[in-house]
Amino acid sequence: MLKKILCAAVAGGTILLAWATPEERGKEVFVKRCSGCHAPDLNKEGPRLRGVYGRKAASSPEFAYSEALKKLGIRWDDASLDKWLSDPDAMAPDTDMAFRLADGKERKAVIAYLKSLGSR
Ligand code: HEC
Repeated sequence: MLKKILCAAVAGGTILLAWATPEERGKEVFVKRCSGCHAPDLNKEGPRLRGVYGRKAASSPEFAYSEALKKLGIRWDDASLDKWLSDPDAMAPDTDMAFRLADGKERKAVIAYLKSLGSR
């Protein structure tokens, strides 16, 4: 805790926890950027994301995916998630996810967080 306070730096309104683990930084990104539409264990506007890492795209039961995502037929890993988050529409034209995460460092951190969630 003390370490975190000492290392917290405020930059452009963002609190960067300089020595936090990638998973911790990824959780911050998730809360800020994704949680309006996603939760680990609850389908919201977007599907629940616990266990998404390693899972087939569009395979969470009880979520109404777009045809675009359903026909992708890929499995989520570092490379596919990075591509998806940088431009979902380029990967699956007409997807329902109208959001991009332009910052590569934030993408990397949030992917580490998704991976750390494990499955249930
Ligand atoms: C504006 C709402 C919105 C935001 C913000 C958003 N998403 Fe999504 N997301 C969606 C929707 C809707 C889908 C389903 C897309 C479809 O069916 O085409 C989706 C799908 C996904 C999928 C594929 C899930 C699966 O089961 O195949 C992943 C992974 C994902 N989002 C990650 C994220 C992450 C990580 C963030 C934050 C960096 C984020 N999303 C931000 C709405 C959003």
